[in-house]
Amino acid sequence: MTRILFYLDEPGKDVWRPAFEAAMPGVEFLDYPDWGSPDDGPAYAFAWEPELGLIAKYPNIRAVFSLGAGVDHITRDPSIPADLPIIRMSDDGLKEGMAEFVLMTVLMHHRYMPRMMTAQRNRNWQRLFPKRARNVRVGILGYGALGIACAQALKPLGYELAAWSRTTKPAEAGIQHFAGTEQFNDFLARTDILVGLLPSTPETTGLLNKDTMALMPKHASIINVGRGTLVDLDDLVALLDNGHLSGATLDVFAEEPLAADNPLWNHEKINITPHIASITRPETAAEYVTKNIGRIEAGLQPENVLDRARGY
Ligand code: NAP
Ligand code: GLV
Repeated sequence: MTRILFYLDEPGKDVWRPAFEAAMPGVEFLDYPDWGSPDDGPAYAFAWEPELGLIAKYPNIRAVFSLGAGVDHITRDPSIPADLPIIRMSDDGLKEGMAEFVLMTVLMHHRYMPRMMTAQRNRNWQRLFPKRARNVRVGILGYGALGIACAQALKPLGYELAAWSRTTKPAEAGIQHFAGTEQFNDFLARTDILVGLLPSTPETTGLLNKDTMALMPKHASIINVGRGTLVDLDDLVALLDNGHLSGATLDVFAEEPLAADNPLWNHEKINITPHIASITRPETAAEYVTKNIGRIEAGLQPENVLDRARGY
C-alpha cells in the first residue's frame, strides 16, 4: 500500500484525497498534521510550502513531490536532506492551464485590452488599432515544459515567436531560439511581448531590471508567470512611468500574497493576478505522481527530479 503524506495550507484542499484514491486504489492518504509516526514505513510527501523542518522529521519519506512545477517553496527549507529526491510537477493539466493563461494575456497586450478597459471606465470611445499578429514579436523567457506548451498555443495565431533558455535547442520551425547570457540582450531587443516562465534560481533573480528591460523595444510589455524574483518591480514601475514599457501582467511576486497596501495594485499599466496562471489539477497531478511512484518502486529513475546544482 502506498502512503502519501500530504501538505497544503489552502482552502479547498479536500479535492485531493478523492483524486489520489481514484488514481491509487488502496492509497493511505494522510493530510498534515495526521502524518503518523516516522517509523510507520516508507512514504512519499506531496506538498506545497511545507513547514520548515517538517520533511526532515520524517526519514521514512522516500521522495518529495512538489505540488507545482516550481520547487522554491520546498528548497527554502535547508534541513531537507541533500540526497532526498525532490520531484517537480509536469503534468498535462499544468501545461494546458499555463498555455490558456499566456494565450489570453498575450492577446490582451497585443489587442490593448487593459487600455480598452480603462477607456470604458472613463466612458471614452477610444479606438486603438493593433498590429497584425505576424508583426508582433513574442519572446518566451524559459523554454521548458511550460514555455513549449505556450509556444504551441501561440503558434497558430501567427505571432513572431522566440524563446530563450540556458542551453541551446534544436532548430524548430516558427521559433527563433536564443540561449545563454551572451544571447540574452539580442532576445530582449527583438521582443515586444515578453512572457517570463523561468524558475527562481540565483541566476534568474533580478534578471529583468532597469538595464535589461531598457533594451526591449519602446512600448514593449511584460507578462510574468514564472516566479516573482525575476523582475525588479521598482525598475519595472519606473520604465512603465517613463513610457518605455506599455504594460505588465504580474501573476507571481517575490512576497506572496501581495500586501493589500502595495501601490502596484493601483498602477494603471499593471494587471495583477494572484498566482493562478496555472493551478495544479488534482486528476492529472495524481496520475502523474502515481506513474512516478511506479517508476521509483520498479527501481527506475523518476521523471523531473530537481537538479539541485541547476536549481530547477
Ligand atoms: P522547466 O521545464 O524546468 O523549464 C525551465 C526553463 O527555464 C528551461 O527552458 C531552462 O533552460 C530555463 N532556464 C532555467 N534557468 C535559466 C537560466 N539561468 N538562463 C536561461 N534559461 C534558464 O520548467 P517549467 O515546468 O516550464 O516551469 C517553469 C516555471 O514556471 C516553474 O519553475 C515555476 O516557477 C513557474 N510556474 C508558475 C506557475 C503559475 O501559476 N504562475 C505555474 C506553474 C509553474 P534549459 O531548457 O536550457 O534547461
Ligand atoms: C506554480 O507556481 C507552480 O510552480 O506550479
